[in-house]
Amino acid sequence: MRKPFIAANWKMNKTISETQEFIYNFIPELKDTSDVDIVLAPPFTSLRISAEKLKDTNVTLAAQNVFYEEKGAYTGEVSPLMLIDVGCKYAIIGHSERRQYFNETDEIVNKKIKAAKKAGLGIIFCIGESLKEREAGKTFDVLQREIEKGLNGIDSDNIIIAYEPIWAIGTGKTATPEQAQEAHAYIRERLNILYGNKADDFCIIYGGSVTPENVDYLMACKDVDGALVGGASLKVDSFMRIVKFRKES
Ligand code: 13P
Repeated sequence: MRKPFIAANWKMNKTISETQEFIYNFIPELKDTSDVDIVLAPPFTSLRISAEKLKDTNVTLAAQNVFYEEKGAYTGEVSPLMLIDVGCKYAIIGHSERRQYFNETDEIVNKKIKAAKKAGLGIIFCIGESLKEREAGKTFDVLQREIEKGLNGIDSDNIIIAYEPIWAIGTGKTATPEQAQEAHAYIRERLNILYGNKADDFCIIYGGSVTPENVDYLMACKDVDGALVGGASLKVDSFMRIVKFRKES
């Protein structure tokens, strides 16, 4: 049985004091949530305060990015070891915003995954097609390429796959449960090819305009094991409703 995995990706939002305010209101809501893996990915600047405030809870921390070198003259970058040091358990790697705005290629993503795993981080590995690719019937090709290149030479431990169709991110246009299920099933099939029959162990989560209104339908899909939530994770109420999704709706 795969445990549901719900992660908040705050992107470039919230100062330290805003983070503290969120966590202050968040902690009392965590009662009865031990059946879900809950992950918070605040900006780098809020990691330390988050680690401190969440240390006695069931919430773990992720960084939104990581560099692939261990240390050295890489102005502005943060190493895997630094993330472990500040209390991260995961790193989000390959997010489409990083691929799009910071020119991260599949090769760079692969190097980051390798380095982060070597340091002991779990990986939230993002993949997904653009609208143009979907309309051209290339969704599966893109997913196959991103999986094969991104995971080249990498063992299957501690990897969460996040399917995030780019056209659904921040647009309010969520994938339908059918579209999500189809893509997730395809991803699981590719993982089976890559890792023998271990694909059933993989948590494959969906991201792209997940809200309290659509989470129950998405989570009802057989191969959707969780959610990576952007906008709706910035408020405690909406994020908690997503964490407390109802499977039988
Ligand atoms: P939204 O939930 O704001 O669409 O963002 C999704 C996302 O990119 C999470 O990583």
